[in-house]
Amino acid sequence: MHNLGIAITGSGSALPATSLDNQTLSRLVETSDEWITTRTGICQRRLASPTDSLSMLATSASTQAIASAGITAADLDLIILATSTPDDLFGSACKIQANLGATKAVAFDLTAACSGFVFGLVTAAQYIRTGAYQNVLLIGADILSRWVDWQDRRTCVLFGDGAGAVVLQANESDRLLGFSLHSDGTQNHYLNLAYQASDQELLPDINIAQGTYQPITMNGKEVYRFAVQRVPEVIDKALFKANLSIDQIDWLLLHQANQRILDAVAQRLNIPQHKVISNLANYGNTSAASIPIALDEAVRQGKIQLNDTIVASGFGAGLTWGAAIFQWGR
Ligand code: UT7
Repeated sequence: MHNLGIAITGSGSALPATSLDNQTLSRLVETSDEWITTRTGICQRRLASPTDSLSMLATSASTQAIASAGITAADLDLIILATSTPDDLFGSACKIQANLGATKAVAFDLTAACSGFVFGLVTAAQYIRTGAYQNVLLIGADILSRWVDWQDRRTCVLFGDGAGAVVLQANESDRLLGFSLHSDGTQNHYLNLAYQASDQELLPDINIAQGTYQPITMNGKEVYRFAVQRVPEVIDKALFKANLSIDQIDWLLLHQANQRILDAVAQRLNIPQHKVISNLANYGNTSAASIPIALDEAVRQGKIQLNDTIVASGFGAGLTWGAAIFQWGR
């Protein structure tokens, strides 16, 4: 009989080398460092170069995560890549599997936008809890710079590129204490990266549509409103399932979308500032990558320590939102 508990035993992250600060960005669109920092808290973001790829960034984050978990790629049973921007629409997880030499692992992509990492964490956990798999690599990675309209100041100032990864392992005690996931497709139109096609007549009476994906569109005000309302709610639900109170949480690890959202959620939940993990000043909103990058940095800085209790919450397109509470390490 296998262990059916879950432990998160390693982390890693990778960021492209090129950095773009607000001042320089204001040469491209009509904006200012003052507007961006006061409205979002973002100071700079990393951008993937034309020779970077999502699978390359994800592979280097994964290599670190595997090493820090003390296992090898050959030990992996499953690889889940949470992304909205794969190199290939058929998925990029298998490319990462090949790069890592994780020959035993089954690999697939999961799309849930900025909630992708939290949704992936819960998905990975189900495979471990059923006893199906013991060693799972979960990656959150996105290259949104390839999909924003660099003429649209309402969106292009917000996003950055990057990848983060964790290893989840079967464990005697269960370190995933509670979770709650939600979707509301009636609000889908607030944040999109939509396919736009035009009709083509293939043969008489047989029409198809072909086109391409259009850059990101977002109703910032509505998404902001949604986030500050739903995120505290979903964290409360996860706390209830974990039978924990808010003061038993060591770290609030939110999707890094906007410092004002981080502050508002912390305030609503009565979580003091020193427990809030924030790195969006340096990287902007890296979508599915933001939580694992911030997690990895906090672990490497020695902020997050063994046995610390973390509440992670992702929210974004779909609309989707979710929270997971876990203790760090075995
Ligand atoms: O990861 C997915 C989750 N996404 C999010 O969480 C995003 C949530 N939303 C937000 O973070 C905020 O709504 C934004 C940061 C996107 C926008 O902040 P806001 O305080 O809601 O600004 P706003 O959209 O109400 O715009 C205020 C003003 C407008 O001008 P007027 O109409 O008042 O004259 C905008 O045109 O700021 C203008 N504006 C800008 N000005 C300078 C919008 N973008 C910019 C810009 N630079 N980059």
